[in-house]
Amino acid sequence: MKKTIIQTARVSFLTAVVISNLSWNSISDEKNNPPLLTIKGFTFKDLNNNGKLDIYEDTRLSIQERAADLVNKMTDEEKANFLMGTGMPGFDGLTPVVGAIEGRVPGAAGGTYEIKRLGIPAVIVADGPAGLRIKPIRTNDKNTYYCTAFPVGTALASTWNEALIESVGKAMGSEVKEYGVDVLLAPALNIHRNPLCGRNFEYYSEDPLVAGKIASAMVKGIQSNGVGTSIKHFAANNQETNRLSINEHISERAMREIYLKGFEIAVKESNPWTVMSSYNLINGTYTSARKDLLTDILRNEWGFKGIVMTDWFGGYAGFNSIISGTSNVTQQLEAGNDLLMPGLPAQKKAIIEDMKSGKLAKEVVDLNVKRILELVLKSPIMSNYKYSDKPNLTKHAQITRQAASEGMVLLKNDKNVLPYTNKAASVAVFGVTSYDFIAGGTGSGDVNEAYTVSLIEGLSKAGFSLDEELKTLYTPFVAKEKAAELKSREERGILALPQRLPELKLEKEAIEKKAVSSELAIITIGRNSGEGGDRTVDNDFNLAEDEVVLINNVSEAFHAKGKKVVVIMNIGGVIETASWKDKVDAILLSWQPGQEGGNSVVDVFSGKVNPSGKLTMTFPMKYEDTPSAKNWLGTPIENPTTVTYEEGVYVGYRYFSTFNVKPSYEFGFGKSYSYFAYSDVKLSNSVFKDKLTVSVTVKNTGKIAGKEVVQLYLSAPSKSIDKPKEELKAFAKTKELKPGESSTLQLTISPKDLASFLESKNAWVAEAGTYKLLIGASSSDIKNTTEFTVEKEITVEKAKKAFELDVPFNELKP
Ligand code: BGC
Repeated sequence: MKKTIIQTARVSFLTAVVISNLSWNSISDEKNNPPLLTIKGFTFKDLNNNGKLDIYEDTRLSIQERAADLVNKMTDEEKANFLMGTGMPGFDGLTPVVGAIEGRVPGAAGGTYEIKRLGIPAVIVADGPAGLRIKPIRTNDKNTYYCTAFPVGTALASTWNEALIESVGKAMGSEVKEYGVDVLLAPALNIHRNPLCGRNFEYYSEDPLVAGKIASAMVKGIQSNGVGTSIKHFAANNQETNRLSINEHISERAMREIYLKGFEIAVKESNPWTVMSSYNLINGTYTSARKDLLTDILRNEWGFKGIVMTDWFGGYAGFNSIISGTSNVTQQLEAGNDLLMPGLPAQKKAIIEDMKSGKLAKEVVDLNVKRILELVLKSPIMSNYKYSDKPNLTKHAQITRQAASEGMVLLKNDKNVLPYTNKAASVAVFGVTSYDFIAGGTGSGDVNEAYTVSLIEGLSKAGFSLDEELKTLYTPFVAKEKAAELKSREERGILALPQRLPELKLEKEAIEKKAVSSELAIITIGRNSGEGGDRTVDNDFNLAEDEVVLINNVSEAFHAKGKKVVVIMNIGGVIETASWKDKVDAILLSWQPGQEGGNSVVDVFSGKVNPSGKLTMTFPMKYEDTPSAKNWLGTPIENPTTVTYEEGVYVGYRYFSTFNVKPSYEFGFGKSYSYFAYSDVKLSNSVFKDKLTVSVTVKNTGKIAGKEVVQLYLSAPSKSIDKPKEELKAFAKTKELKPGESSTLQLTISPKDLASFLESKNAWVAEAGTYKLLIGASSSDIKNTTEFTVEKEITVEKAKKAFELDVPFNELKP
């Protein structure tokens, strides 16, 4: 099914208004073709066009040396321009922006300032994270510029397969490069603090290790093309409601152990070119203006070498402050936020004034400018890369199809109803989403793909016989409802979030007839959400009444005839499952699986692919069981300004396990069509020295080839501070094991893995005592337990005090 225009539209009200009100620095379309200089047999580009070789033009020197030379050649005005982007012209596909300049890559999110006289080109940045987000159609151009919609972040993370994620990143990054973009604004790795966050689909997990490992793999894959990434949103961007102004009270321990940990892993393991600071405030200060976050921790502690850019208009409390330009630009630049995106004329004015008055020190400006220059010098546009505008979309469709099927989680499969192979008998397909599959969420995380394969298309292509009458009833209904939804979104304005299509009302008798004529029923439950808004408990987290009726009636009718019911969950975030899961026979969580969605689902449904995805978050019995449910979105309830993270480090399974709250499906859970036995757990040492290796043998004891994700949890002694009962410290996925085949996996634990952050000591400390290692197929399906000791307390790392609280509060303790 082809995407309609509203789905391609970007939810960016602020951007559209600001663009139409203010003027931008121009973006040049010119290619950078400087004359050449030959010196002692070497050829250089005379970027400055002055007939002599300047240090910055000498490509034998390091990028740092070249950037330092360039800084000295720039005027104050050029520096001020360079510290901010050149706007976001023509970005919104829904509301035409009068007078917008489209730039070199229409639909990109922005770019840096071009300094023609020095031969410094503008770098282009575009969204992510489910693929490259640019405009598919250009004015007066017959070519198309579609990109591959890969599975959403949550779906990718559910593979737990770093090698596979790297290959997805490689494919995504080649689209970035071949469409002439320099930096992809991805991956996004905020923690799923609460199931209702509207952007959870873009993010990976409630667990920082999973988020960090998957993000690292993605960064490595994308950057292997010689283009950059921007890991975002740094940090604690966990709600969309009032995201530009929400002040979050978070303890330093929760910041470091939960909200920063994934970023720390990604920075240390994959060297992203850029980091995007978030919109929110932490303990009273915008993240983009926090020196502890952007300099002390990110650069000094973790060794980050790239640039930090703001999120779009980050540091402005809302629309009025954007228009008046009242943000503390100097504080942002001093904090280590090098680039202000997308760039406002008011910011340039403030920078120049503060430079003149001395409020903004030359050293700060020069340092930030130098770092931006280092990015430009290594970008594809600097070396004049001749992009083709023709990435290999056919090959990438195969990659997304495979990645999506590996990220699917089989939640239930009574009496092995799946895999389903009966192609002769009719399958009755219910649920509007079966006919209008959801590839991914909305907002900047949306991709303009050429098509999305629906479930019924996938089933038909694979040779399954579908109930034609149902198809005839659903197809026009879905078309009509979808058109109405798009229209209503247009009327509600560009910040409008997608709304669920109502279910087609089918009489009980009609369903009973299908239970006679068909062999199997499939019901798809669909959910969509996006940037700019959070989800609701009613009719979103909880099923809506029409969905409950559909599940009830189909299950009763089909079970009465001894036939089975399979539910496909085409969702971007967690929904309630406890009240209805017993009514159906199988549940396949397909997430929002990208443009090949229907094919990917059918690959698992039919058994072509044995499911091996596992949950990267907890599915609670009821929403109220979520640890942050009580303080979600903050106060005052009507229009929150502050939110207190009272649950501390007890996020996700860390809460459910420690406080013995039974979930509907636990973190790490996922079934296979096969079975796996765990044996031979061996520790390299029973006393911890510098590191510890755990080996475990996994055997496929079933009849179908499959992969297994092995999880290693740690239960640490907690004399000095309270700790979660278990924390994931390592994981590994087997290769595809044939029936009867075994594989031995090695998992490594470092001193930092043993440590908690002790605010009292400003340090990561591993207590002396006995540590339990739990090796499991999920956070509660523990297959083996073993122990080791730490003889003397280890201070693993000392840190500088950060995130001073603006308001004291009590954190949850077990
Ligand atoms: C989003 C970012 C995105 C940026 C540029 C912001 O509204 O929060 O994720 O990269 O816009 O489009």
